[in-house]
Amino acid sequence: MMDVSGWSRLRGKINALAAVVLSVLLMTAWLAQSTFVQAMQKSEQTSSSLSRYEQGATSGNVYVGQAKCITCHKGMSSAASTPMGEAAAEPLRSGMPDYSTMSYQSGQYTVRIEKNDAGMNMKVSDGSASLSVPVRWIFGKGYDGQTFLLEKDGQLYESRSSYYAALGHLDKTIGHSNAPPASLMAALGRALPKEEVERCFSCHTSENLFAGRVEVQQAHPGVTCENCHGAGSEHVALMSATSRQTPLTDAEIFNPASLAPADLNDFCGSCHRTTRDVMRSGVRDIRNVRFQPYRLENSRCYDPSDERIQCTACHDPHRKLETSSAVYDQKCLACHASQSSGTVSQKAPACPRATKDCASCHMPKLNLPGAHFAFTDHYIRVVKPGEPYPD
Ligand code: HEC
Ligand code: HEC
Ligand code: HEC
Ligand code: HEC
Ligand code: HEC
Ligand code: HEC
Ligand code: HEC
Repeated sequence: MMDVSGWSRLRGKINALAAVVLSVLLMTAWLAQSTFVQAMQKSEQTSSSLSRYEQGATSGNVYVGQAKCITCHKGMSSAASTPMGEAAAEPLRSGMPDYSTMSYQSGQYTVRIEKNDAGMNMKVSDGSASLSVPVRWIFGKGYDGQTFLLEKDGQLYESRSSYYAALGHLDKTIGHSNAPPASLMAALGRALPKEEVERCFSCHTSENLFAGRVEVQQAHPGVTCENCHGAGSEHVALMSATSRQTPLTDAEIFNPASLAPADLNDFCGSCHRTTRDVMRSGVRDIRNVRFQPYRLENSRCYDPSDERIQCTACHDPHRKLETSSAVYDQKCLACHASQSSGTVSQKAPACPRATKDCASCHMPKLNLPGAHFAFTDHYIRVVKPGEPYPD
């Protein structure tokens, strides 16, 4: 939906990022923001334990699928139904909005979605001519929106119109041109270059990485266990073996808990976008509000070695997003003193204004134009009324 041209990263290539040499000129411009530079230097350090994960499936270690993982890790089964776990779907999956009532008008073209026995089609007509193309994938669980990937003659297209939950209908896909489409096909969507297809799939689907290469044809919908833990057949074989020794020194599976806080943020950032991704893409405006690792690293709260400010301090990737403000308050108060008192570990200052709902004022929800969604700004700060977006 919003792939910003210019950056090129693939999931699992975190180590390769360290090789990127940033221009001295650009560096000078950022030196003023010392925490920022510190964060970037820190993110150059990567863990060698990533190597198993980076490869994806190899000849000796293949994907087993999340159903297999859940047979032993029953407590993790909720991961399958988070928005991440359902970040992509094949057409006709149950629980989807009723697209048949929706249409999108762009210039003289009317776009509709039709169900048929084989699946779903996106159909465009200009009153005289019409064109109908199969929907191959639906991207996005839809808390914000869903974009359709259409397939024609072996080529994938990103739909020009997307479903937006806040509107309950279709509107222009964020990032697409405002200019009226020049043809029926252009009214349906934009052809995706191969590299971009691989990027979309490496962030929204799973079991698609083979010896470091993305294989789109093999992709399973959604971000599942083996996206984050690497292919699991060796682990499963080891854990199924009755004669295995305990305790194990190596469970033959990648556990991101072993990463230092800054590396963990980059790990999530391999899909949610790191500071380096933002620098390379040059997206220095409200469009980067959805790139949480970058936003968080701008905060004065951020310390690359403090696990109280890493993504997993506030989010369990195996569960749906927590929405209770009281839960997040506890995360802030792990570092910040409360007004009355502070423990030794709460070295950061107390708020002079309030004792609860911290995120509501200091992590404001900001509207991203064209996305019909207000993203939570992870740049934790004192928000001054009327201030320009601190990009
Ligand atoms: C046959 C049962 C079984 C299956 C299937 C299984 N696991 Fe495990 N897993 C275990 C056990 C038991 C442990 C605890 C190992 C230990 O530390 O003794 C474990 C540990 C882990 C750990 C922590 C490893 C560490 O070093 O801290 C992760 C992560 C993990 N499993 C992920 C997975 C994933 C992903 C899958 C599917 C690809 C999976 N498991 C399938 C039994 C299983
Ligand atoms: C393989 C790519 C990938 C990785 C790695 C990844 N994410 Fe995500 N995440 C996504 C995608 C894609 C979505 C959007 C899902 C949707 O709604 O379609 C998402 C959505 C989310 C959401 C909001 C959805 C919700 O309500 O639960 C949270 C929170 C989140 N991710 C946290 C994390 C954290 C924390 C990590 C690191 C431990 C992480 N993610 C790593 C791809 C990824
Ligand atoms: C670098 C990883 C990455 C790439 C590449 C990527 N996405 Fe995403 N996408 C995400 C993450 C992370 C989220 C959740 C946070 C957000 O909304 O930005 C997301 C959110 C979305 C959403 C909204 C999900 C919801 O539940 O509302 C849609 C739709 C979407 N992406 C479609 C696409 C399409 C289509 C492509 C390719 C043309 C693509 N994305 C490429 C990582 C990626
Ligand atoms: C978006 C990334 C992501 C996905 C998807 C994911 N995990 Fe994890 N998993 C993590 C992270 C990060 C940790 C480390 C958590 C921590 O530090 O507390 C972890 C830890 C674990 C552990 C070790 C738990 C412990 O207490 O040490 C197990 C077991 C595990 N995951 C299994 C699974 C299984 C099974 C699935 C699929 C059903 C899954 N994970 C899906 C990111 C993910
Ligand atoms: C890892 C510890 C840690 C966590 C977690 C943390 N902070 Fe902070 N925060 C700090 C430190 C340290 C400072 C800087 C204090 C200073 O420079 O005097 C700070 C500064 C701030 C500031 C002042 C920023 C500015 O620009 O002046 C605000 C506001 C703030 N934090 C709010 C929060 C809120 C709200 C949360 C939870 C959503 C939170 N913090 C979580 C450590 C933390
Ligand atoms: C100090 C706590 C804190 C940390 C650390 C944190 N988040 Fe969040 N995050 C929040 C809050 C609060 C929300 C909004 C929850 C709600 O809507 O009720 C949120 C929401 C999200 C969402 C949902 C989309 C949105 O904009 O509302 C995503 C995705 C997400 N966070 C990803 C991340 C990632 C990736 C990291 C690590 C770089 C991270 N978060 C670190 C507090 C945190
Ligand atoms: C109603 C909005 C609101 C809520 C809720 C709120 N704050 Fe604040 N906070 C502010 C404002 C406004 C300031 C700036 C006050 C000033 O400069 O006098 C501030 C200042 C701060 C500072 C900077 C203090 C300093 O000495 O530099 C920190 C840290 C902070 N808040 C943390 C928190 C935490 C933690 C919570 C939750 C327990 C919280 N805030 C809840 C509005 C709020």
